[in-house]
Amino acid sequence: MTQAALDNAPYPHRHLLGIEGLSPQEITYLLDRAETYVGRNRQTDNKKSVLRGRTLINLFFEASTRTRTSFELAGKRLGGDVINMSVATSAVKKGETVIDTAMTLNAMHADVLVVRHSESGAVKLLSEKVNCAVINAGDGSHEHPTQALLDALTIRRRTGGISGLLVAICGDIAHSRVARSNIHLLTTMGARVRLVAPKTLLPAEAERLGVEVFHDMNAGLAGCDIVMMLRLQTERMHGAFFPSLREYFHFFGLDYSKLANAKPDALIMHPGPMNRGVEIDSEVADDIGRSAIREQVEMGVAVRMACLEALAQPAGEGDGG
Ligand code: NCD
Repeated sequence: MTQAALDNAPYPHRHLLGIEGLSPQEITYLLDRAETYVGRNRQTDNKKSVLRGRTLINLFFEASTRTRTSFELAGKRLGGDVINMSVATSAVKKGETVIDTAMTLNAMHADVLVVRHSESGAVKLLSEKVNCAVINAGDGSHEHPTQALLDALTIRRRTGGISGLLVAICGDIAHSRVARSNIHLLTTMGARVRLVAPKTLLPAEAERLGVEVFHDMNAGLAGCDIVMMLRLQTERMHGAFFPSLREYFHFFGLDYSKLANAKPDALIMHPGPMNRGVEIDSEVADDIGRSAIREQVEMGVAVRMACLEALAQPAGEGDGG
């Protein structure tokens, strides 16, 4: 896209590296576009040609099931060619740096790179070195923008809007890029956000993020519209953050007794993968009346289609939806 076309586009950015800095209009545009794909994805003949002749490369330096598959499906449903780089068997294992790997892929004229990396900031660094669009599929404990967008789409479809809602984000916030992206998105869109976590699992800057902080689940969930649970990210923990998993569940695991403090129709969410019996009780997670966890996965494909479309499509070449 030329600079002029980019400036006039409804999503006027070359990359999607984070939610921080996006305007309410830009977020709404992506959600509205995603909404049009939800219905289409439920039909048998759901292939579009927005990405015909374009190549998307999934470059995941960290394990992933749903995010990688979701981007792959999204790219294919838009008619693009999708390549999954298996980092475990790639030159990265031979000592190649992230930048060298990216430059190699760049030389193959990829149109979009979808990147996940364990270091916060690694995806931005890479985006500065390549010519193609880059989507952050999660960098360390920094951001995971498409997860926040799919959460927002799920919430919007269930409640009608985000503004004015009271949302509790609970659990391992310190290590969670999902939490950070959601805090930015929800506060930008006018929701009130509460963080509910033990002191050891809260980031130092929590109070500066425009949220309320609670260390008790019953108090934190009181009157909430949305209860968003997070996985205990033990792979990012160096040291002991809580006495035992049993004690963690007792104080911070979502069960029906703690949930009773939230609004009677409060929606339960979790980005997955879940640790059943650790941050969430199995029965609560599977409660089809209350839990939106499977719907979140479905919305993920539609949201990623909208993001790919916004980044890969030259302005004016859309088919009008
Ligand atoms: C999240 C992630 O990788 O940040 N998962 C996901 O993308 N669905 C959350 C997690 O790993 O706990």
